Amino acid sequence: MTEVEKRYAELMDHLPVGVYRNTPGDEGRFLEANPELVAMFEAESREQLLGCRVNDLYVDPGQRKVFCEKILRHGFVREHELELKTLKGRRLLAEVNATLKRDKGGELYIDGVIADVTERKRAEADLRRACAELARSQKALKSTMRQLLASRDQLEQAQLGLIQAARFESVATLAAGVAHEVKNPLQIILMGVDYLDANLPPESGDLAGVVGDIREAARRANAIIREILELSVAARLDRREADMNAVVERSLTLVHYEAQAARVQVVRDLAPSLPPVLIDTVKIEQVLINLFLNSLQAMAQGGRLTVSTRVERARDAVRSNGASTVGEGGEHQFVAVEVRDNGPGIPRELLPKVFDPFFSTKPVGVGTGLGLAVVRKIIDLHEATIDLANGAEGGVRVAMRFRARSPTTSVMPVPDAPKRQRTAIRPASRKAAILEAR
Ligand SMILES: Nc1ncnc2c1ncn2[C@@H]1O[C@H](COP(=O)(O)OP(=O)(O)OP(=O)(O)O)[C@@H](O)[C@H]1O
Ligand SMILES: [Mg+2]
Repeated sequence: MTEVEKRYAELMDHLPVGVYRNTPGDEGRFLEANPELVAMFEAESREQLLGCRVNDLYVDPGQRKVFCEKILRHGFVREHELELKTLKGRRLLAEVNATLKRDKGGELYIDGVIADVTERKRAEADLRRACAELARSQKALKSTMRQLLASRDQLEQAQLGLIQAARFESVATLAAGVAHEVKNPLQIILMGVDYLDANLPPESGDLAGVVGDIREAARRANAIIREILELSVAARLDRREADMNAVVERSLTLVHYEAQAARVQVVRDLAPSLPPVLIDTVKIEQVLINLFLNSLQAMAQGGRLTVSTRVERARDAVRSNGASTVGEGGEHQFVAVEVRDNGPGIPRELLPKVFDPFFSTKPVGVGTGLGLAVVRKIIDLHEATIDLANGAEGGVRVAMRFRARSPTTSVMPVPDAPKRQRTAIRPASRKAAILEAR
């Protein structure tokens, strides 16, 4: 062996990859193999490996066929993956780089290197699995985060509800006390005005106008007192089975004049039939009228007021301190009523205040700020729910849900079209007059 041959033999012996020379075809055999290759295939000796058919080292001899076809066609293969087995039967994943050669006699042979990539492939597969698992965990984490955020929002709402309820109770108690004290003197003033009116001499001139103004002011004060008392004594409900569509129609009839005056188009989107609800119809009419008037006042330059009713199925909504939560129990039927306008909506920062008694953005004489406070009180007494928010396309959207009488109770037909009625109402007493007109 020459010096150069010795150096090459040493290099081959110490390379950490399997180096081989073999012949192609079904009966192909190894002509050369370095110690790493002998070890890779768990052969007892180099001679044992050279003695076996290359095909015997394939898990699937079909793969050998594909390999040979490829190298015969292209003259080489790069990073070709093979599933091989050792002489002791242990499987391994190999990566082969090889070149096709021809000897002096014209015979074809293959020179190549084989790397055992079993561990690397397993690690890659593990990594892929871990990545998929991570992606799944990330998704689960995101969904948990979303749930947490939703719970936090609900908690904030509940807290807000509690604060509002507490504030409401103290203001309502104080106001009711004052109202009781003022009610009787006010009656005396009204009676006195009636007396003066009846006894005014014909030549009294401006006096009739002054008395009329006093009566109007006293009436308005009386209407406010009525609403304040409503906040404390509304606990007495006269509940009967009723058809919500009929209640909506009656309430719309009562604001027909106001809607016309404000050039507001009223759109009815009522369910063809609804199960009955157990409500105090007079009080729910009051709720609807307050909501309609708020919308009409917000759309003084014209707009659209939409009232819709529908049946909903949901888990029972249990009210606790003004906040609605889903309770235990199974599914129930609800009658949902929605009042929507396309007015300017309510500034975000004012939204938490609108149910407060005496909160109003309207000029004195137009709004007292009791409308929504009374609405909330009546809705609470009915163990119903109310949500007031700005609509996605502007305006205000008030959604209420009443528990249906019974899921099996027969449905009620839509009432006949409302009768048009009303006479003009003076602005200062409009709301009181509407409520009195029922
Ligand atoms: N549909 C609506 N569009 C715009 N703002 C509204 C609407 N509904 C209520 N608001 C706002 O909420 C406030 C409180 O309403 P609420 O009905 O309690 O009192 P009010 O209408 O001002 O007075 P009252 O109803 O006693 O005559 C209103 O002053 C108004 O700022
Ligand atoms: Mg109002």
